[in-house]
Amino acid sequence: MTELATLSYKGKTYLLPIVKGSEGEEAINISKLREQSGLITLDPGFANTGSCRSDITFMDGEKGVLRYRGYPIEQLAEHSSFREVAYLLINGRLPTSDEIKHFSKLLNDHSLVHEDMRTFFESFPRASHPMGILSSMVNALKSFYPYLENTEESINATVTRLLSKIRTLAAMSYKISRGHKVIYPKAKFSYCENLLNMMFHSPVNPYTIDKDIVQALNVFLILHADHEQNCSTSAVRMVGSGKVNLYASISAGISALWGPLHGGANQAVIEMLEKISKNEMTVSDAVKKAKDKNDPFRLMGFGHRVYKTYDPRTTIIKKKCDTFIQKFGVKDPLLNIAMELEDIATHDDYFIEHNLYPNIDFYSGIILRMIGIPTNMFTVMFAIGRLPGWISQWKESMDDPEWRLNRPRQIYIGHKKRDYVPINER
Ligand code: ACO
Repeated sequence: MTELATLSYKGKTYLLPIVKGSEGEEAINISKLREQSGLITLDPGFANTGSCRSDITFMDGEKGVLRYRGYPIEQLAEHSSFREVAYLLINGRLPTSDEIKHFSKLLNDHSLVHEDMRTFFESFPRASHPMGILSSMVNALKSFYPYLENTEESINATVTRLLSKIRTLAAMSYKISRGHKVIYPKAKFSYCENLLNMMFHSPVNPYTIDKDIVQALNVFLILHADHEQNCSTSAVRMVGSGKVNLYASISAGISALWGPLHGGANQAVIEMLEKISKNEMTVSDAVKKAKDKNDPFRLMGFGHRVYKTYDPRTTIIKKKCDTFIQKFGVKDPLLNIAMELEDIATHDDYFIEHNLYPNIDFYSGIILRMIGIPTNMFTVMFAIGRLPGWISQWKESMDDPEWRLNRPRQIYIGHKKRDYVPINER
């Protein structure tokens, strides 16, 4: 028997079914509310609104839990690779060894980017942000690979093409922005090795693949691979709900991710730490400013809409930072500032009362700096990581029996009807 919630308004009672998730989450299904009562719900920022049923990612913000397809993030970060996690998210299960070999072959086969796309790159002003370039280039892929049919085979080819090419596009945008020779992907390298090689190899300075760096990159990408209905994923689903093609939907996700309150926070964190390092601001100034209601400043890398204790990804990435420090004897002054800031903020009443803890972006920038990634490429690295999540969420929404065009309503608070006034009478 479906349990029911009761809503009483103006002497009438409405019965609303309760929906339960596999981890015991409960929701009130209001899909018939307007039809029955004329009422809509108002939920700015959608903090209380479930937009879909999904079997991809489970998060428990109170307990700091994150699982992809049921597998804890800690186990995936420890034992898996980004390529395998991408397969898991998109296909719903871990691959067999034959399946992963085939998947790797497809990723290699699709890794080259049409040479004509280089002219696009060269037309962007040099100062363009790589996220803007990436979003445009992913959208442009539709013009280069237009034969997209709504068949399983065509969708699989598009998915693999996108996963593979995003890495090549990201590396190309980096090389071209520096005025350096573009390095092509090589079949002998793994997914992460290829990305590193395409970014850092040069004819004058050959790049040596280091297995710890490859592993750190794998962990970084795995930790970012999905996060259920966040801002960029919701953008992908919303744009996709109009039945637009996958490339355009992902391009919308990349744009949404760019913002400093979302994926752009990793760049914003480093910029904030650099300001402190250059004595433009002290650690206590930053904490004071963040607490001041009249100051729009926020402590970047702190707070999360869902996590209200700790972000499990932060624990993993912080451990990776420690491994790096030991292995490479890294002395990054920003890491010390980050730890000081974390220590002060996490003992401060304001941050405790507001449940503000470091999120993944607080330490991910430090890891990316250690790998050698320039600051303006941080959010691009996040986008590469999030791609399997966006794709799996897009695919799920396409097959969803409850699918509807996304079209929220509003409460209008403007003028009531009024008559047009000719210009000479205003
Ligand atoms: N510094 C200072 N105060 C903060 C911060 C912060 N980083 N984050 C939230 N607050 C305060 C707000 O001022 C507000 O205070 P009030 O209730 O006294 O008015 C309260 O906490 C709630 O803030 P909201 O903005 O309503 O919380 P929301 O859940 O909407 O925001 C967000 C979450 C956007 C992540 C926010 O914490 C933030 O801006 N953080 C900094 C940017 C950041 O690190 N983003 C990355 C998020 S993780 C990701 O997307 C990958």
